[in-house]
Amino acid sequence: MPLTRRVLARAGRSMRELYGIGYTEGPGLAGALLVGASYAQALGVALGIPVLGIHHLEGHLLSPLLSARRPQFPFVALLVSGGHTQLMRVDGVGEYRLLGETQDDAAGEAFDKTAKLLGLGYPGGPALSALAENGKPGRYALPRPMLASGGLDFSFSGLKTAVLLLAGKAGPADHADIARAFVDAVVEVLVAKCMRALQANGLKRLVVAGGVGANRQLRAALDAEAARRSAEVYYPEPELCTDNGAMIAFAAATHLQRGEAATPHAFTVKPRLPL
Ligand SMILES: Nc1ncnc2c1ncn2[C@@H]1O[C@H](COP(=O)(O)OP(=O)(O)O)[C@@H](O)[C@H]1O
Ligand SMILES: [Mg+2]
Repeated sequence: MPLTRRVLARAGRSMRELYGIGYTEGPGLAGALLVGASYAQALGVALGIPVLGIHHLEGHLLSPLLSARRPQFPFVALLVSGGHTQLMRVDGVGEYRLLGETQDDAAGEAFDKTAKLLGLGYPGGPALSALAENGKPGRYALPRPMLASGGLDFSFSGLKTAVLLLAGKAGPADHADIARAFVDAVVEVLVAKCMRALQANGLKRLVVAGGVGANRQLRAALDAEAARRSAEVYYPEPELCTDNGAMIAFAAATHLQRGEAATPHAFTVKPRLPL
């Protein structure tokens, strides 16, 4: 409630001006989802306005549409977060087709687990990425999981084991080079699969969403490879890459503008929720 009041005050708006409310219906932890759903539904009843349960990943998928440089439909979306690594084909609002996904760890999870192995704390994705920028490329060779195989699917759990083996034999002075090897491996696989997805779908527009989309090395490599193929890459603003309320509000506003029905007030949350 204090957050809602603060956001409204900063935007110079009042509760009475709200015409709809969006909340995250799933996937996620049931307890956290229930807090948001209960508050949103109660506020909606009190204000007499429609309330919409939104899929967390749809929020990420549509977040690049909040940028000044908006992608046109259709596009391929790479969703890389702490909990998900997926390639989707997006033909419009509500028209999403899964092209491939990770068979084990998500890319962000691999960043976080590897960062922890190197003593960088948790969640250490950004710290690992910063350390890698000081590392020498090519000093350590790490696998490129499922690069040649697996079509548009990913696998990242083997990388942390490979890093664990390397770190056991190396000293702290080698950690930047190990971080660099890790980031280079993840980035190479992500870029290759994105380009494969574009080609397989005959598309030239790629949208990157989710926390790992803030990664500088990933952005640089995607931009370079896309330029070579005269394709375009769209990113949300960095502050909209990780989880945020704006993307959920935007998804809800988009659905409401299309005249879609509100979620009934007898609501549930869905810890597991296919898109
Ligand atoms: N610059 C970065 N480089 C690599 N990973 C990053 C970077 N910034 C954030 N992350 C990772 O993004 C993830 C958080 O993204 P988010 O979309 O909030 O995930 P989720 O919704 O699945 O929890 C974490 O795993 C974090 O380490
Ligand atoms: Mg997220």
